[in-house]
Amino acid sequence: MGLAFVDIATISPATLLAFEEANRAYFESMIDGRAPSFYSLEGVAQHVAGLREEAERGTAASFVIADAAGALLGRANLKRIDTAAGSAEIGYRIGADHAGKGIATRAVAFLLDEARDRGLATVEALVLASNAASARVLDKCGFVPAAEATGITVTTARGTEGTRRYRISLA
Ligand SMILES: CC(C)(COP(=O)(O)OP(=O)(O)OC[C@H]1O[C@@H](n2cnc3c(N)ncnc32)[C@H](O)[C@@H]1OP(=O)(O)O)[C@@H](O)C(=O)NCCC(=O)NCCS
Repeated sequence: MGLAFVDIATISPATLLAFEEANRAYFESMIDGRAPSFYSLEGVAQHVAGLREEAERGTAASFVIADAAGALLGRANLKRIDTAAGSAEIGYRIGADHAGKGIATRAVAFLLDEARDRGLATVEALVLASNAASARVLDKCGFVPAAEATGITVTTARGTEGTRRYRISLA
């Protein structure tokens, strides 16, 4: 499947809102939910404005994933970019209708290329203990679970649980 990774700032708030609303329950079953105020045109526009500011500061790079016809399939983000430390964190979400097609795996590979292009040495991801699909994606891309505990819990629609940090060295 031909995929394009497109700067999120170029996508209309209406398109992004439709994607997030259509997948809200699915995402909230696997990751922490967004504030209710996010789910409006104004809320999404503010969200994107915040991401654009972060991109300008160089602390984040946020993309949507589109197919050849331009349909929005998912999102992929490089965040907490710290050029002094040579590190960043990644996040990604794929629409429920497109799960199991290898899209997240390709998204993570894309984000690692973006990290390499920025000269970063380490990339991390924070994953809920129950999110076996995400852990598998990271495993396929060469990440390994870090030994240290994160001490971070996250609340999803299924309850509160611990997280695990995954890490890859690009050096
Ligand atoms: C987790 C998520 C990103 C996976 O996206 P995806 O495009 O379906 O992932 P891929 O198709 O690239 O790979 C999924 C892998 O997990 C495996 N998998 C799926 N469900 C699984 C489960 N319950 N247990 C173990 N492995 C599972 C698949 O078999 C596949 O591995 P394989 O290629 O070895 O067969 C997607 O479900 C999602 O967006 N979830 C909500 C947001 C989220 O969890 N983001 C990640 C936060 S860390």
